[in-house]
Formats: sequence, structure tokens, C-alpha cells
Amino acid sequence: MPTPAQLKKLKAAAKTAAGRAYAPYSKFTVGAAILTSTGKIYAGCNVENASYGLTNCAERTAIFNAVASGEKKLKLACVVVYTPTKTATAPCGACRQVIYEFGPQTRVISTCDGRQEVDVSIDALLPGAFGPADLA
Ligand code: THU
Repeated sequence: MPTPAQLKKLKAAAKTAAGRAYAPYSKFTVGAAILTSTGKIYAGCNVENASYGLTNCAERTAIFNAVASGEKKLKLACVVVYTPTKTATAPCGACRQVIYEFGPQTRVISTCDGRQEVDVSIDALLPGAFGPADLA
């Protein structure tokens, strides 16, 4: 559970990240910020490609950024998604699977420029998920 101060930082980081999105094809910019179980924050944006299918979403960029920064035992506490839209954006299926990998209880909060804010646990977004426990 992020503290109010952490939540504020996460929201700000997600918004800043959205401003860095590389989205020349969809023009749909997305920012994400994650909070690790040790209290660190990492951010990411969507990065598109002329070969559309290679697009990497903001949520996965943020998580991969954390791992690439040395978070060997990454455990997610929270993921905040921001889109400059009127309604909140939910993570895509691929991102749900990647979020689940690093925390089956992760809280996912989708924010936007409108009033809507969706706050849900990843196990509700991906019921009956396949994950690391299945390989143990
Ligand atoms: N996208 C994200 O980055 N995260 C989401 O939660 C939904 C979709 C991106 C992928 C693509 O660059 C653009 O939004 C339109 O689908």
C-alpha cells in the first residue's frame, strides 16, 4: 500500500513519463510508475515501432527499467498508469501477465485527466493467472 506521499510521487512520475512516450503511430501516450516493495520508484513510457507489434507498453517499460537498474528480486507493491485522457486506461493483457510475475497482489491504479481513477488488484485483472508459483 503506497503512502499518500508515495502515491503523489507515483502519479507525478507516471505523468512525466507519459510526456516521454514515443507514440508517433497511435498518438496515444502512456506513462507508468511502479513502487517496489523496498520503496523505490521506477517509471516508463510506451515505445512504439514502425513494425506495430513490437510496441512496448509503458507498464512493461517501467518494470523492465527496474530490472535493468539492478532490481534482481523485484517485488511490486503498486503500478500507477497515467494517460492524458478523460477516462482511465487499464493495462493490456501482456502487461497484466508481466505485472503478475513480480507480484500477484500488486495494486494497479489507473489515472487520467478526468475524474475517473480505477484502483484494482492484479489478481482481479488476471484471474486464474499462470505465474512463477506454477513452475515451483
Ligand atoms: N499502451 C500502453 O502503453 N499501456 C496501456 O495500458 C495500454 C496501451 C500503449 C501501447 C500503444 O503504444 C498505445 O498505447 C496504443 O495502444
